[in-house]
Amino acid sequence: MQPSTTTTPLCHLHLPQCPGGARSVPVMAGHSLLEAALAAGVPMDSSCRNGTCRACLSQLASGTVAYRVEWPGLLPEEKAAGAVLPCVAIPASAAATPGTAPRDTALNPPDITLHGVPFLAP
Ligand code: FES
Repeated sequence: MQPSTTTTPLCHLHLPQCPGGARSVPVMAGHSLLEAALAAGVPMDSSCRNGTCRACLSQLASGTVAYRVEWPGLLPEEKAAGAVLPCVAIPASAAATPGTAPRDTALNPPDITLHGVPFLAP
């Protein structure tokens, strides 16, 4: 019997300001938003990839995220204003408590749209 693998994304990440034109990429279970973008060849800027340097700082335009780490490098007021660190942000169900990991990823998190994404120059 073959091991079960899933190729169904949790949701999609929309990047309307991507160089060369808007992109939508699948976000697979266990992947951060940054990992999803990089896997699809989107040239998002990053450095630490652990939520501290803020090189990937973006603005959440729609959707909900949770964080892999207890306290990503954002001030509470920045989080409240929609700032997001894609390197440690994962899709969250709208039913999840903001800032915590979703309890049940089968809840189909909504698609996510980011603005103000730092992209690498071509
Ligand atoms: S790459 Fe450093 S905070 Fe995202």
